Amino acid sequence: MSLNKPSAVALLSGLLACSTLGPSAQAEQLLLSADYMVDTLSGELVPNPAVLISDGVIEAVGTRGELAAPEGATEMHLKGKTLLPGFMDMHVHLDGSVGDVSFLESRFQSVPRKTVNAVVNARTTLMAGFTSVRNVGAMGDYSVIAVRDSIKGGELMGPRIWDAGPSLGITGGHCDDNFSPPEQKKKNTGVANGPWAVREKVRENIKYGADTIKFCATGGVFSRGTKVGAIQYSLEEMQAIVSESHYRDLVVAAHAHGTEGIKAAIIAGVDSVEHASMLDDEAIELALEHGTYLSMDIYNTEYTLSMGRANGVPEENLRKEESVGQVQRDSFSAAVKAGVKMVFGSDASIYPHGLNARQFSRMVKFGMTEMQALQAATINSATLMKQDDLGAIKAGYLADIVAVEGNPLEDISITESVPFVMKGGVVYKNL
Ligand code: ARG
Repeated sequence: MSLNKPSAVALLSGLLACSTLGPSAQAEQLLLSADYMVDTLSGELVPNPAVLISDGVIEAVGTRGELAAPEGATEMHLKGKTLLPGFMDMHVHLDGSVGDVSFLESRFQSVPRKTVNAVVNARTTLMAGFTSVRNVGAMGDYSVIAVRDSIKGGELMGPRIWDAGPSLGITGGHCDDNFSPPEQKKKNTGVANGPWAVREKVRENIKYGADTIKFCATGGVFSRGTKVGAIQYSLEEMQAIVSESHYRDLVVAAHAHGTEGIKAAIIAGVDSVEHASMLDDEAIELALEHGTYLSMDIYNTEYTLSMGRANGVPEENLRKEESVGQVQRDSFSAAVKAGVKMVFGSDASIYPHGLNARQFSRMVKFGMTEMQALQAATINSATLMKQDDLGAIKAGYLADIVAVEGNPLEDISITESVPFVMKGGVVYKNL
């Protein structure tokens, strides 16, 4: 199948897509209606919604039967379905492997191979209803930036992407490459030590197209020889990364499992803490005080513990996952209870892309209401990324809209199979 956007879209969505193609098409209007709509701004379920979309932007939102279709507009009713803003995942690694590739094999894939992974995974992610993602650290260096730009240019199908380029990290830390023997002197592109070196690395990432920054504040589960709970960057280095990124208006994400690293990252001013596994009361207080978002990947423990060994995940990493999984869930429950700001971050790549939505039901299981989980993946994520035209179905917002079968506030797991996906007014899926 050609990946050329018009034909791919036409294939997927039939007639409608032909009339809503990109910038060169003339003004096209669509009146989309359904049984319900999740209003992520008011936190309410709205019956009989009608949404008027013009040239990829939501022009008006009203009630079915009351909001009339302008002359020439296409009408589309999604019977039995609920409309939601397109889902947003704030923690993915799109260049992670595709299909049956063992853990170690995936570590040794070339940058061109990783670029191909990102092309495939981007499409899968969009089809799962995730219309925006933040790619927080590419193992394939700048590969996802190329894919992001190609999606923007209409050559490839995929979500809107913010990409961090290579994650910053200390020598031998979680964001370095510790899998090769010393004589090869391998190090990841994002390795930098000391305040000026990390500033230079931020500048370099921006030079090559990064539009967000990620660094590793502590050890992690899937690296070799790092302690999950141990701090890696000093506070001084974290402050340098954050100030340099904020000068340039980039949102900063810090990978941090351990308590000390989480606190230092928050004090340094990061916008979101990824994983945030070992929270104590003081860390929760700090997050509340600084308005820091937490992006907690609480589904993937299940996947790693059931599939990891078969996928060749080394014992060291399985043991680290066992040590951190339940601790992270408890931290999640405590943070939700305290009212810390939360986004949806799945860390898809640890488990297959396209299954991102499995995390919704776990967010509910460990303490959120269904509405809070949906808000985390929409309006909260948009706010974190400083986007005031994403994350809600509202006049003036971009027409990134998905629909699910039934009512997700009664059964959140229906988000795991999304039959309707629209991004920027273009229908990519309509089953
Ligand atoms: N990328 C993270 C790491 O390697 C994944 C952690 C997964 N486990 C978890 N319980 N969240 O540290």
